[in-house]
Amino acid sequence: MDFIKDLRLGVNIDHVATVRNARGSAYPDPVRAAMIAQEAGADGITAHLREDRRHIVDEDIASIIKAIDIPLNFEMAATDEMQKIALGHEPHAVCIVPEKREERTTEGGLDVVKDESKLANFIEPLREKGCRVSIFIAADDTQIRAASKIGAHVVELHTGAYCDLHYEKSYQERDAELSRLKDMASFAHSLGLEVHAGHGLTYDTVTPIAELPEIVELNIGHFLIGESIFTGLKDAILRMRDLMDKARSK
Ligand code: PXP
Repeated sequence: MDFIKDLRLGVNIDHVATVRNARGSAYPDPVRAAMIAQEAGADGITAHLREDRRHIVDEDIASIIKAIDIPLNFEMAATDEMQKIALGHEPHAVCIVPEKREERTTEGGLDVVKDESKLANFIEPLREKGCRVSIFIAADDTQIRAASKIGAHVVELHTGAYCDLHYEKSYQERDAELSRLKDMASFAHSLGLEVHAGHGLTYDTVTPIAELPEIVELNIGHFLIGESIFTGLKDAILRMRDLMDKARSK
């Protein structure tokens, strides 16, 4: 395939809101974080409005859209409530993720195969409004085929397992997962899907993912917000951007 040179960085600012909500205060402000991310060269802002509003809350969505010139990638579960909110804001992109109330973070990919017709109906009005529809899935060919069948524009491959295996020092299994991500990025691209990746990425784990030529966007949040405590958000983003660019120029 032709090498796709540009690799976009979507900065997920959810955990700025997590810190704000821990005290029920007005700060730190996720809108300010979105503006700093934009200044630092982020290509998009990602925010996940969870059912329990544990980080981003409804008012944040309009404020973020108003404050930034780069696109908003609105992550949400496939519920009627979230569909209505997304249709109200018409963000550039929506990413449909699985959501369980008790989980600490988005644990696995969406089961598109199981809910194929429900998801096809769910995304239809979003497609009609012109939103790019992305589906967050594990690196699995049956899920990718199903995502293509329901009319998704994009699949975002879940890199959480790969990152966990890296930090567990299970290097053989990590490399097997990386190889699956590589094959599945290529498979999804061959079906005409745009390919994104994200979850759990850090300075230590980003390079092999950024090297995969079919992947055109990475969405990264938790690590960057954590790192910004030590270096500031702008520097954390600039360093991630630099690692992505270096991986891409190899
Ligand atoms: N992509 C998706 C679909 C996600 O749900 C998340 C977490 O909200 C991310 C990327 C970012 O993951 P992390 O915060 O671990 O970088």
